[in-house]
Amino acid sequence: MADDTLFSQVLDPANRADPYPLYARLRETPVARQSDGKVVVSTHAAIRSLVFDPRLSSEDLPPSRRPRTGNPLKDWFLNPLKDRVANAHRPLIFRDPPAHDALRGFVMAEFGVERVRALHGRVSSLVDALIENCRGRDEVCLVEDLSYPLPVAVICDLLGVPEADEPQFQAWATQLATALEPDARGDEATRRANVAAFDAIASYMRALIKAKRRHPTGDMLSGLAARGASGEARMGEVDLISTAILLLVAGHETTVNLITNGMLTLLRHPDELERLKSEPARAPRVIEELLRYEPPVHFRTRKALGDIDIGGTIIPKGTAIILLFAAANRDPARFADPDRFDPDRPDIQHFGFGGGLHYCVGAPLARIQAEIALLALCRRLHDPRLLADPPPYRPGASLRGPEMLGISITGIT
Ligand code: HEM
Repeated sequence: MADDTLFSQVLDPANRADPYPLYARLRETPVARQSDGKVVVSTHAAIRSLVFDPRLSSEDLPPSRRPRTGNPLKDWFLNPLKDRVANAHRPLIFRDPPAHDALRGFVMAEFGVERVRALHGRVSSLVDALIENCRGRDEVCLVEDLSYPLPVAVICDLLGVPEADEPQFQAWATQLATALEPDARGDEATRRANVAAFDAIASYMRALIKAKRRHPTGDMLSGLAARGASGEARMGEVDLISTAILLLVAGHETTVNLITNGMLTLLRHPDELERLKSEPARAPRVIEELLRYEPPVHFRTRKALGDIDIGGTIIPKGTAIILLFAAANRDPARFADPDRFDPDRPDIQHFGFGGGLHYCVGAPLARIQAEIALLALCRRLHDPRLLADPPPYRPGASLRGPEMLGISITGIT
């Protein structure tokens, strides 16, 4: 009988540095029921069939419930009202059609090729400045020195958040990322801290949206806030706030992980690092293979809205489902020699950005950031070497990435 504790072993921080042997065992039973009743789906074929299935719901987040304060007005009136509003205006990643599709349509209309292309110069100058800050040092921590500050600065630019407010955004993004981390979100202390961070960022956003409506500044938030002025459909204020928060949260830690996992993988494959340095045109291939081989998001959760038959195994209605994207990315039935990092694979149809209805809206922006950052690091760092392998990892099993990545260098170009 299949081991029904495999997924709890995946959640165990002791297995964070190398969960792939556990994924291989999970794939032996493509639809594996765990001892807590959840079902883990881990093969490429099974996940591909599920991501387009309308019987899968993303509305599986526990309802917001603000902690008691001892103040009767807050506990019996204001906070339950705030909870009702928050629950009714979940961000689109936690919504099903038709609400999901309408919200996603607004975002896509403001997140086109031109807007992403326009951020290219800003990303390059940020990367250059962050690397320049390391001049004179013989050790850097990639997470602290580059991967962490870069995406939050880029998202602030995308949304039109003033530069002076960026440090505050970093703190909010870090706290709220736990809401996307299914293994941490049930924890009471985390939920309390998330509510506090959510209230703080929501009131900041409310003021910023008001300012953007009065004086549009050409950024994404101004664009979203201006919609409806000439009669077309518009996004309500609460949805606008939750969308802006989602863009920050979904686009931050994920991109941090792609850059950090990317450099870690290249340092473990020095021949690939050298090739990337001498053939920068290889970058898009390298990034796609990284998204397959060391994806920043290992799994997402869903709920079955009806009985679902996958290759003869029934997932009953109401079951919590884990889509283990990172296991599907290493499925030998789909990829030859899947545990090999090989940017020259003929096709790399990975689930690094998910798939189907909820496919990542920020994929083009994430690719640009990773490409610019990794090319600059390979070109500018002299003789980079890992200080510890494996590095220490952050606790999250889904948003998985190193907490620190110490690299010794002999100089900077
Ligand atoms: C390397 C970086 C990134 C990775 C690996 C990544 C990964 C993902 C994945 C796996 C999903 C699917 C979630 C699901 O199926 O439940 C997703 C959705 C999403 N991502 Fe990303 N993401 C990245 C960067 C970004 C960026 C930069 C943004 C925006 C600034 C962004 C915004 C979103 C949004 C809004 C969704 C929800 C889409 C929907 O529900 O329709 N992501 N992302």
